[in-house]
Amino acid sequence: MQNFTFFAPTYFAFGKGEEAKAGELVKRFGGSKVLIHFGGGSVVKSGLLDRVKKSLDAMAIPYVELGGVMPNPRSGLVYQGIELCRKENIDFILAVGGGSTIDSAKAIAAGTVYDGDFWDFYQGKPVTKALPIGTILTIAAAGSEGSPDSVITHEDGMIKRGASGEAFRPKFSILNPELTQTLPAYQTSCGITDIIAHLYERYLTNTKDVEVTDRLIESLILTMKNEAPKVMANLNDYEARANIMWAGMVAHNNIVGVGRSQDWTSHQIEHELSALYDCAHGAGLAVTMPAVFTYNLQHDVMRFAQIAVRVWGCQMDFANPERTAKEGIEALRNFLISIGMPKNFEELGAKEEDIEKLAYTCCYGRGNEGGRIGGFVSLEQKDVEAIYKLMVF
Ligand code: NZQ
Ligand code: ZN
Repeated sequence: MQNFTFFAPTYFAFGKGEEAKAGELVKRFGGSKVLIHFGGGSVVKSGLLDRVKKSLDAMAIPYVELGGVMPNPRSGLVYQGIELCRKENIDFILAVGGGSTIDSAKAIAAGTVYDGDFWDFYQGKPVTKALPIGTILTIAAAGSEGSPDSVITHEDGMIKRGASGEAFRPKFSILNPELTQTLPAYQTSCGITDIIAHLYERYLTNTKDVEVTDRLIESLILTMKNEAPKVMANLNDYEARANIMWAGMVAHNNIVGVGRSQDWTSHQIEHELSALYDCAHGAGLAVTMPAVFTYNLQHDVMRFAQIAVRVWGCQMDFANPERTAKEGIEALRNFLISIGMPKNFEELGAKEEDIEKLAYTCCYGRGNEGGRIGGFVSLEQKDVEAIYKLMVF
């Protein structure tokens, strides 16, 4: 195991009705004037926004509102938010919604207290300072409620990039599984897929002897495998939604990723798809993951065979572990299809003729390590092209 430090000081309030504590928590974490940030309207329709405002009113905390965050959140609204926060002397941002809303809130929080262009952070500058943020989560997926990350798409060129820094960890996050019951089946599946992807990205490691995190990751993927069919059968299944919601946080606040190298190839390759085609991140991952894993299989057959046996219930073929490893990848693919995810480029709405461009932007657009990506296997443009081609069948 590698040396590591882990400090994830987000305060979590989990369960039914916990959003009523929003005002109290904003006050506790030092907010005196709030920007309430939200998405395209689901929180208005569900009445959640009104309840949150009531909770702030009860603590006599003034607020301004900025809605309209789109999935795959855009830079334009971030610039607008920064201007608004400065003009209104906002000292706390409350994100009410999904990963896109939280990520947009994080970008505004960093940009407001920075002299330059907030996009600098999405081109590699570490985030060391930001306004404090709190979140009220409405979809179990991205894990942004506990993560130090944010992903934004710049409208100039539709470039989707991530930024990171401890200042991005929310001060508090309210997780009420009931709030996720209004999610349609498709969005629910996209979230489940993203959570599984966050676990695989950490599982695919070159660090030896990381049994504790291996086992934690396996148990979380098993949980998703068991809970997903329940929630797909009954979108109002509170207990299944509760397990998925907490798994989504644990999968991505990095407690299961410490002390080991991580991969993130599937995410980097997927981000090009959601940037270009505006597909849901989870749907893009469902198509990307089996292709990436198939391409990287030979790098460490036993790692893929191990997860195939421990999570997907495959029989270990000691004479031919590659067969077991491949069965595990197929089991993952079939599971994702069973919960309604797309399986290939066509179903995702992606185009074969874009492959060269996608691979180029994926590698060289990042400008790191001379155009190479991947923490598990180092890949260059021709590898990434080959991976995209595996998604066309
Ligand atoms: O905008 P509204 O009207 O709220 O509708 C949203 C949106 O259309 C809807 N929705 C959310 N909660 C709902 C609901 N509809 C009904 N009832 C509810 N309770 O769902 C749609 C998707 O929302 P979004 O916030 O985009 O989903 P998600 O949480 O999956 O976030 C995706 C974004 O997060 C990024 C992705 O790249 C993508 O841009 N990621 C962020 C990460 C991070 N910050 O740590 C890590 C992830 O790997 C990921 O890359
Ligand atoms: Zn993700």
